[in-house]
Amino acid sequence: MAGSGKTVVVGVTGGIAAYKTCELVRALVKGGHRVKVVMTEAATRFVSPLTFRTLSAEPVTVSMWADAPEATVHHVSLAEEADVMVIAPCTANVLAKLACGRADDMLTTTALATEAPLVIAPAMNVHMWRKDATRRNVSAMRGRGVAIVEPERGELACGDVGEGRLASVECILASVESELARVRDLVGRRILVTAGGTHEPIDPVRYIGNRSSGKTGFAIAEEAARRGARVFLVTGPTHLPDPFGCEVVRVTTALQMRAAVLARADAADAIVMSAAVADFRPAIAASDKIKKSQAPENIRLEPNPDILAELGQRRGTAVLVGFAAETSSVEANARAKLDAKGCDLIVANDVSDPSIGFGTDENSVLFVSREGTERSGVVSKRHIARLIVDRLSGFMSG
Ligand code: C5P
Repeated sequence: MAGSGKTVVVGVTGGIAAYKTCELVRALVKGGHRVKVVMTEAATRFVSPLTFRTLSAEPVTVSMWADAPEATVHHVSLAEEADVMVIAPCTANVLAKLACGRADDMLTTTALATEAPLVIAPAMNVHMWRKDATRRNVSAMRGRGVAIVEPERGELACGDVGEGRLASVECILASVESELARVRDLVGRRILVTAGGTHEPIDPVRYIGNRSSGKTGFAIAEEAARRGARVFLVTGPTHLPDPFGCEVVRVTTALQMRAAVLARADAADAIVMSAAVADFRPAIAASDKIKKSQAPENIRLEPNPDILAELGQRRGTAVLVGFAAETSSVEANARAKLDAKGCDLIVANDVSDPSIGFGTDENSVLFVSREGTERSGVVSKRHIARLIVDRLSGFMSG
């Protein structure tokens, strides 16, 4: 295959999954990339540098102190040469070092010095993966824009069963390719995204809410930011950390969401209403906690404003994207909503299928616009986010 002219620095750390990195290096070379491998000392206990040197046809670096093959400050030169750096497998230890910015060997020094996108594919024992310390390190890296290729569930080398197994070579490869291909088609655009569900208070401790996790909206916001947009994310309550590169406004109720959205709508080139805004709220929220003995017989509800419909009526120049969660006649209902709410695109999903949608990592949606209907197939919410942002970009330039 023709050379891509791209240099991929592959970092290998000391985990049993290091043998799979041989396949990754082969695939990258086959894909036309120049591959430079850097290993920790521990990684050399699992796979010999000679194996990687043979597969990549390039020198392999382990030590900071060996004679540098081509430059005097080799860690900096490797870091500068990289178009992307991928660390696979990444042990809990190296992840922790990266999260706190340590640079005590060639691999961590290169990772800290590079300005290229970083892809990390962790692999470790399930208990290590689940520990708070590791969770925090993963979110810290994600918060800095690092692409994390989540480990898979399955039988681990230690005999335990759970998540922690290195992701497949195909997944890691896809993430590397997507970093290399990342388009910056939204530079100069302002995009407003809403996410999550709203909480409508009954009293100071109770609320009416819904099952939206916010995952799709957060993924859309992050994807748009990575593609160069200035992104404002207005989100209802969720446990998700702030996505990379976005200005985040956290609200609780539909009325607060409306105020936050309307304050930013005029300046936006596109508005994506992925939030599951509550349609109703208790007409009166008690100011004190309602005692168990004083359970109200009923709670009177009143409608919330429909933020999307309001934006559709004001109809500025912004591209308007709405969502539809339907349990039947998905396409017909979505098409009706496209007109009723004055949107350019409705992203519709069938919420009657429990294996996709609310709270899960995968979904299958329909894109309903005046040009027609397209199906995403069952894919990750991150991938759906990419498809939505592709369409946004098309509407804005069209
Ligand atoms: O009418 P329905 O609630 O099914 O429409 C869903 C779309 O409308 C979503 O994009 C949602 O964010 C938006 N919406 C809104 N304000 C509401 C209810 C829904 O903006 N009160």
